[in-house]
Amino acid sequence: MILGIESSCDDTSASVFENDFMLSNCIAGQEIHRQYGGVVPELASRAHQKNIVPVTEAALGKAGIKKEQLSAIAYTRGPGLIGSLLVGSSFAKGLALALNIPLLEVNHMQAHVMAHFIRSDASQKQPAFPFLCLTVSGGHTQIVLVSDYLKMEVLGETLDDAAGEAFDKAAKIMGLPYPGGPLVDKLAKEGNPLSFVFPHPKAPGLNFSFSGLKTSFLYFVNNELKKDNDFIQKNKANLSASIQKTIIDILIAKLRQASRQTGIKEIALAGGVSANSGLRHRLLQEGLQAGWNVYIPELQFCTDNAAMIALTGYYKMKKGQFSTQEVSSTARYPLNNR
Ligand code: KG4
Ligand code: ZN
Repeated sequence: MILGIESSCDDTSASVFENDFMLSNCIAGQEIHRQYGGVVPELASRAHQKNIVPVTEAALGKAGIKKEQLSAIAYTRGPGLIGSLLVGSSFAKGLALALNIPLLEVNHMQAHVMAHFIRSDASQKQPAFPFLCLTVSGGHTQIVLVSDYLKMEVLGETLDDAAGEAFDKAAKIMGLPYPGGPLVDKLAKEGNPLSFVFPHPKAPGLNFSFSGLKTSFLYFVNNELKKDNDFIQKNKANLSASIQKTIIDILIAKLRQASRQTGIKEIALAGGVSANSGLRHRLLQEGLQAGWNVYIPELQFCTDNAAMIALTGYYKMKKGQFSTQEVSSTARYPLNNR
């Protein structure tokens, strides 16, 4: 029985696994950031402190076990907001010490990829090794070559903003609340993706760049506002559909390039942005055309959750990769290290 703890950003989550099978996955989000237009690190840490014990109690209760039945605790060591990570790691360390059970440190980005191997009542199709995983979240955008459980190599990543940030920043420019990604997704359904054309920022190899896209979106909108004060109001759906199409085009182009370079046709999607309906649809379409086997996790395993942390902990435990009380949280944590 493994308890997973996730607290890297603004979701406090706890999950209980019996080997690789999920018994529970409880998540407490943080509404407080909405009014500030983004995650406020100090407030996130405080909310984690408030939520972590009740969320863990809920996860244990839902799994129908007592904490004394746990055999190990897996927690997110990084990357993420340091204050948020410290709450989860201190809690995991304290509980492990009290129960006299081992700790497992988990890389959050590795866990996003490992989410594909979660077994639960709703069964999901699992990719075969080797596969390529496009991990797209609010903090990261990576193409990862996965050759075995826990064995991963980053082939390309963003040099500046993440894909989720591109969604959120475009949303903010349109006056939408944080996080804007899901709202852009919703508005895009009513709009024409060919209404406005935005340039694709250049990035070498399999890397990405999204900061230029945000700037050109901002300049374009500001320019139009000079001509018509109500431009955003009148064009929200078309702007959303167009920026969403541009972001998806950039992601898919690099994924095609990665598949060509490696000859791999097992293609997986991970991270919060994989909740985007346009991206999911496009990837499935591309898969049909290019002969890819496409794997998209259940929505609850795309955004931040402790189930992916507990599952990664399970595979680390099988390999005897235990952590110690001396290990400290780290805001930056390259995937290739672990
Ligand atoms: O993986 P995640 O939950 O947290 C991080 O580790 O960053 O990803 C959150 C990001 C946010 O930028 C959010 O706007 C984006 O995922 N997101 C979406 C959608 N749902 C979440 N972006 C576009 N469309 C969505 N439906
Ligand atoms: Zn994440």
